[in-house]
Amino acid sequence: MSKIIVFGAGGRAGRAAVAEALQRGHHVTAVVRNPGKYHDLEGAGVRLLAGDVTDTDTVADLAAGHDAAIMAAYDAGAQPDVFFTAAAHALLDGLARAGVGRLVAVGLAATLETADGTPLMDTPGFPQEYRPFCLAHAAGTTVLHASVTAVDWLVVSPAGDFANAEACSGRYSVVGVDMDSRVSHSDFALALLDEIDTPRHHRVQIGVEGA
Ligand SMILES: NC(=O)c1ccc[n+]([C@@H]2O[C@H](COP(=O)([O-])OP(=O)(O)OC[C@H]3O[C@@H](n4cnc5c(N)ncnc54)[C@H](OP(=O)(O)O)[C@@H]3O)[C@@H](O)[C@H]2O)c1
Repeated sequence: MSKIIVFGAGGRAGRAAVAEALQRGHHVTAVVRNPGKYHDLEGAGVRLLAGDVTDTDTVADLAAGHDAAIMAAYDAGAQPDVFFTAAAHALLDGLARAGVGRLVAVGLAATLETADGTPLMDTPGFPQEYRPFCLAHAAGTTVLHASVTAVDWLVVSPAGDFANAEACSGRYSVVGVDMDSRVSHSDFALALLDEIDTPRHHRVQIGVEGA
């Protein structure tokens, strides 16, 4: 049993991560900005706390005593190019201060590289209206890559996208990038928790698809 802190616990990926962690018997600290909106997250094994993932002191304070952290936050109201880099810095610095050794972050398929090393967002046919958001996500991952840190980080992305249907097959594969593939949030959460319970990938970004 581990103690896991989930930032962005009230969102789609965050909720799935909380559910899967509880299913495995872990203790979960669910971090949201406004706990008043998320009372449904409370229950056995879950502590609901207020916190902003872009604030280093908050991350350090809330994460103390945990074994691992999951980053599933996304702020649609913030400038993406500010949000993802600020969160990456705050997580690296705050988790290191708190002595938390493992960070698993939810990433974006568009920033995965195809077989020849080209990011998906740079391949022909990729919708360019999403490009600023993709670049912002990529900038956050660049902060992780550039860091010299004791935090063993990993970015896990859908290989293509999340599925609309929320069926849980109980299986997933690590496949790199495949724009046509889909993974439910529940199956995606299996990958997040597997990489905490038995870490297999380190300081890289991986893509997963559902079975
Ligand atoms: N195809 C793909 O690769 C793909 C598709 C979809 C999503 N994604 C990625 O998956 C990640 C999660 O997406 P999602 O769909 O689960 O998002 P979501 O449902 O919008 O949830 C994001 C959560 O983050 C919380 N949040 C926002 N700012 C925060 C902050 N500063 N500190 C702490 N929590 C904060 C929000 O809660 P409050 O606003 O109430 O605080 C919200 O509950 C994102 O990085 C997204 O880009 C990838």
